[in-house]
Amino acid sequence: MIFGVVYLVRFHIVKEYDQTLEFQQEMAQAQIDIEQYKKTAKNLVDANTVTLLTEAADLKAGKAIYDSNCVACHAQDGGGGIGPNLTDQYWILGGGIKKVFTTISEGGRDGKGMIAWKQNLKPLEMAQVASYVLGMQGSTPANPKEADGDLLWPTADAVE
Ligand code: HEC
Repeated sequence: MIFGVVYLVRFHIVKEYDQTLEFQQEMAQAQIDIEQYKKTAKNLVDANTVTLLTEAADLKAGKAIYDSNCVACHAQDGGGGIGPNLTDQYWILGGGIKKVFTTISEGGRDGKGMIAWKQNLKPLEMAQVASYVLGMQGSTPANPKEADGDLLWPTADAVE
């Protein structure tokens, strides 16, 4: 009888231990799955779901994309040239992350010179460079191009 009780207790404790371990392993796996999903989801972003990215890594990636693709027409500091000034509060094609993402993805008006970057950039890359561009709002470029478009800042739509 005593052996029976000891056996029962040990059996249950051991079993409980196993279950705890199993639970922890499942949780760890779930965490990995969530991280993986987040990475994939981030790249599935489109003009409707895009939000302003604020993490340093995303903005750094956005700057790198800007420096190698956009500087020729918008200047290093966003002051503009062939393309409009991106630091001011005036937008030709709309401000705010969703519209800026759309402009980058689909390009500008015909014949103006702003191509549809979706041919060359992944959705996440366009979200990163759009967020970087919006981060230049209110900065002071060396040779700012005169304002063009509608005054949209400060409105809720200008920066999300
Ligand atoms: C060949 C020159 C050229 C390059 C390169 C270029 N752009 Fe443009 N961009 C323009 C022109 C021109 C316009 C104005 C389009 C219009 O008036 O319809 C424009 C417009 C824009 C606008 C909208 C501005 C507004 O006032 O609404 C954004 C945002 C923008 N560009 C971002 C970018 C980004 C980001 C890149 C790099 C991935 C880039 N551009 C590369 C020429 C360029």
